Amino acid sequence: MISNVQAYRASLLHFRNDPAFDEHATLWHSDGLLVIADGKVVAAGDYDSLHASLPADTMVNDWRGKIITPGFIDTHVHYPQTDIIGSPAPGLLPWLNTYTFPTEGRFGDAAHAAEVAEFFLAELLRNGTTTAAVYCTVHPQSVDAFFERSHALNLRMIAGKVMMDRNAPDFLLDTAESSARDSEALIKRWHKKGRQHYAITPRFAPTSTDQQLRLAGELAAQYPDTYIQTHVAENTDEVKWVKELFPDARSYLDVYEQRGLMRKRALYAHCIWLDDNDRARMAATESVATVCPTSNLFLGSGLFDFANADKLRMPMSLATDVGGGTSFSMLQTMNELHKVGRMSGMHLDAHRMFYMATLGGARALQLEGTIGNFAAGCDADFIVLDPQATPLLSRRSATTDSLEEQLFALALLGDDRVITATYSAGARVHQRTAWI
Ligand code: GUN
Ligand code: ZN
Repeated sequence: MISNVQAYRASLLHFRNDPAFDEHATLWHSDGLLVIADGKVVAAGDYDSLHASLPADTMVNDWRGKIITPGFIDTHVHYPQTDIIGSPAPGLLPWLNTYTFPTEGRFGDAAHAAEVAEFFLAELLRNGTTTAAVYCTVHPQSVDAFFERSHALNLRMIAGKVMMDRNAPDFLLDTAESSARDSEALIKRWHKKGRQHYAITPRFAPTSTDQQLRLAGELAAQYPDTYIQTHVAENTDEVKWVKELFPDARSYLDVYEQRGLMRKRALYAHCIWLDDNDRARMAATESVATVCPTSNLFLGSGLFDFANADKLRMPMSLATDVGGGTSFSMLQTMNELHKVGRMSGMHLDAHRMFYMATLGGARALQLEGTIGNFAAGCDADFIVLDPQATPLLSRRSATTDSLEEQLFALALLGDDRVITATYSAGARVHQRTAWI
């Protein structure tokens, strides 16, 4: 019988904890072996100690000189905004009105949605992202198109229909009742089908009535293992607007808490203009701040406050927020994350940034043990990184003196060119073909 075991020889990097709080968090095997079978991790360790135990006919894929890590996890991204990435605007609200809403209007057309979903998922894989929390549009067919493609590729993805019943163009509005009905039908159709997960997705407080947010909260209570995703405290004009729309709330975040939208698996994008009271509520409810540095710098939204987030142990994870974000690459996202960290007096080292893009993301999604590292039994979602991917990176890699310096160079200089191959559930779903 031919063995179904496959093995990959390379340097291995993964994490068992957050390196900011545990000096033994990093797992590094310079000459390592990743052993998988039936789409799951069997073992990860030193080549010397593992290779003798492989079944005799196991093919060992030789990736020496490369680094294998778990696939990256992008905890906040909008697939319908793929075609408006890099569109200039003076800030969030004009950017939404000028670019975002018109482009999202096209997703009532199922064929258009399918075409964009296919491109978007290929782009994620080219950048080494194997799991993402994804916004669709208000149209249920945009969700079907996304999950159909993701399911066909056997990717582990989270997505949901945007709920918005006011303050947007008519062609993008649902109603409180229809949004709850449509969301529930989509939960029944897609949640936990294969590797798909559903996220209840009120866009943000300004585009939902009180009634819509309440119904979203009721759905979240009825289906506790679904996700919730929304935006909060991204931009000062937005915060002011929310104060006018919801004058009784203690804060913007409180609008959501009052309506049952803070819990495990609730993902709050941006979280820039929070106070310590809000941060403490995030921590107490195990809600997660999804930090979007390329977007926040691009739209001039503000700087995430890492120092106060860590002080209150606010759960956080990393995200691109394309199309407000300017890159699909989690490496480029780390680059900007590092600089934003500097501005809040924090040195975010490369170990921590790689943790945030892998196990940190899995923890934010309550998926530790399923994705995010190479613990036995995890999905075999992994990527092969090339420290020689470009002439400059190759030159820099030759002079690095430590793992930290090597990872830092990958984060600061790397992008999709670094991703040599991407594997999902043990199957290769991307292979880089050229230096372009
Ligand atoms: N707030 C409400 N909608 C959006 C969106 O699509 N992108 C960003 N960055 N912020 C938002
Ligand atoms: Zn967003």
